[in-house]
Amino acid sequence: VAFFHSKKKLLNKKVLVTAGPTYEKIDPVRFIGNYSSGKMGFALAEELAKEGAEVTLVTGPVHLKTTHPNIHRVDVESAMEMHNACLEHFPATDAAIMCAAVADYRPKEQADRKIKRKAGEMNIELQATEDIAAALGQLKTPSQRLVGFALETNDEKQNALAKMQKKNLDFIVLNSLQDNGAGFGVDTNKITILSKDNNAQEFELKQKTEVAVDIVKKLIGELTND
Ligand code: CTP
Ligand code: CA
Repeated sequence: VAFFHSKKKLLNKKVLVTAGPTYEKIDPVRFIGNYSSGKMGFALAEELAKEGAEVTLVTGPVHLKTTHPNIHRVDVESAMEMHNACLEHFPATDAAIMCAAVADYRPKEQADRKIKRKAGEMNIELQATEDIAAALGQLKTPSQRLVGFALETNDEKQNALAKMQKKNLDFIVLNSLQDNGAGFGVDTNKITILSKDNNAQEFELKQKTEVAVDIVKKLIGELTND
């Protein structure tokens, strides 16, 4: 007996994804940024869309293209712009995955003219940016799910679990720095998913597209058992 059913597990679901770095302006020609390529976030957006989700992808400056028609791309530059775009879109979503490498600090002041070179030292005063994940964690309703990433150099699991609690996340993806094939710029990643029930699920080093499949599977589990 053949019966029809869709294999897509996120039909009628809306998911917000952040990706890439943010650039924080120093003056008209300079910024503070980081080496995030955006590949992990874009892979997540593609995988979510393949599962039928309507995806809003809020991305910092990257050299990547989106292909899936169900991905609505919002390009931003700074942490503040990313924060504003996320606050606008989050209320209408079922889940958000915070994959962006958001700058933690911005120059306190932005010069409107190019700062000239001088001999000796130069100091730029910095101030903290908005914590976007924490802001969404505050807004989160009981039916919404919020996923974060963590990059740690020491006490990895402890620090990641603390972040999950502090930002009110449902689970956190710990990027392992143990392999050279994981992290910024490369096509592969090695992750551990830490859940609220203290469960740690370790995965092999694999392509970011495959890592995205693992993360989306976990999210599907969380969205369909509330
Ligand atoms: N994050 C965010 N907004 C920020 C900083 C981080 O949304 N201003 C999100 C990241 O996208 C990630 C999670 O918070 O999902 C953890 O980011 P991470 O940089 O590891 O943690 P921080 O809270 O910034 O702490 P620190 O960098 O000091 O370890
Ligand atoms: Ca940070």
